[in-house]
Amino acid sequence: MEKTFIMIKSDGVKRGLIGEIIGRIERKGYKITKAKLFQPGRELIEEHYMEHREKPFFRELVNFILEGPVMALEVEGESAIEVMRLMIGHRDFKIAAPGTIRGDFANSLTENIIHGSDSVVSAERELNLWFN
Ligand code: PPS
Repeated sequence: MEKTFIMIKSDGVKRGLIGEIIGRIERKGYKITKAKLFQPGRELIEEHYMEHREKPFFRELVNFILEGPVMALEVEGESAIEVMRLMIGHRDFKIAAPGTIRGDFANSLTENIIHGSDSVVSAERELNLWFN
């Protein structure tokens, strides 16, 4: 069994998509093993996105996440990292396929509803960061 880190971003929470997203995860047969709804601080979000700190969109991304509460989730299941990324869809809403979370709900490059770890190494790092 594999564990991955999922964050429902501030826009996803604001738009009332928590139930929709958790429903999709549960209907897939994956388990929510940890969950936390809270207002994160700047330090946590900058640390989470540290690999992008030199990118032109970094500041805008961090500020947008800080606009409101987020929901942090630990999700467990077979190949959960890869499958959750497929269920989330492409980070660009224009490319994200219908049926994926971003394909169905996102309409902005920055405000794209949800984050999922992209590898075993980042899942471990992000779960430690968010739940320790
Ligand atoms: S990149 O371009 O290769 O660095 O993109 P990627 O590794 O997929 O992750 C980029 C994260 O930043 C979010 N984001 C943006 N990416 C690209 N361009 C813009 N303008 C932008 N704004 C925000 C993107 O959604 C990725 O975050 P997560 O939370 O993983 O989705």
